[in-house]
Amino acid sequence: MIIAISPGKVILLGEHGVVYGKPCISVAISLKVAVNVEEYFEYTVNGQPLDEKKHTYIKKAIETIWDGNPLALTTFSQIPSAGGLGSSAAITTASVAALLALKDAFNKEEVARKSFEVEYEVQNGASPNDTSACSYGGGILTWAKEMPGALWDITRNGRTWHIYAVDVPDMTIVIGNTGIKSKTPLLLKKIRKCVDHSSFGAELLEEMEQIVVEGKRALQQRDFVRLGELMNENQRILHTLGASSKEIDRLLTVALKAGAYGAKLTGAGGGGSMIALTDEPERIAEAIRKKRGRAYVVTVDKEGVKILK
Ligand code: PMV
Repeated sequence: MIIAISPGKVILLGEHGVVYGKPCISVAISLKVAVNVEEYFEYTVNGQPLDEKKHTYIKKAIETIWDGNPLALTTFSQIPSAGGLGSSAAITTASVAALLALKDAFNKEEVARKSFEVEYEVQNGASPNDTSACSYGGGILTWAKEMPGALWDITRNGRTWHIYAVDVPDMTIVIGNTGIKSKTPLLLKKIRKCVDHSSFGAELLEEMEQIVVEGKRALQQRDFVRLGELMNENQRILHTLGASSKEIDRLLTVALKAGAYGAKLTGAGGGGSMIALTDEPERIAEAIRKKRGRAYVVTVDKEGVKILK
């Protein structure tokens, strides 16, 4: 029996742009997914027969990696599903890690590569950001720009993304989940329309690139005031591109009013979650709960995906 554990992730700056090779900074978070795998006489997930519709990511992970006997998988998740917090990436990463470990082939880079393949196939498009963030842990920068010191590079459909480790301080992030499902493939399509059919969309992505580059500096200098301002600017761009929603906007407003340094949607948007940067997490979480948001106070997970022996 193998148990794999993967963190979820939040994107601090740069979602959507990263699909087009723009930079994006993410951190793995303390909300996690566990997957337990053992050989069995048929394929099951949580005691039910493996179902292509219900267990899409797990099914694709098995197809991509496993050629042995049938398996029983059991999953446990602390991450709200379709919440913009990498729940699909984490379930994929944990499943892939467990399957690779069964073959004695577990390492974080291989987990990141195979998990991206799975996510890309299921979602019909994605960047390797989420799966690399969940695999590596801590902070990462995903960018088409090549610089020295990449952890790994991933190429798909003629685009190469380089994944870099980013040193992030111990910080507390407040997540406000709207309770409304964020449909990543739908949002990806919506943003693609805007980017492919208007030069304005492409210009917004250029602006976002500058914000992420400056955000990386602010993060390294522990300058939360500037980082917060950049998160707010990033949110304005995501809103203009059509990735925000009334429910997200409502939670952003209360978080900022309650004194957050900055706040923005995280992940694909259109529902899902927002994040707030603050050193008064309980105060912001309370303000979010008063507006009927589900609030989570999370820290940065430094370990990434791991196998429990
Ligand atoms: O909402 P999530 O957790 O699936 O995150 C999506 C992040 C995007 O940048 C919008 C897409 C991607 O694959 O990078």
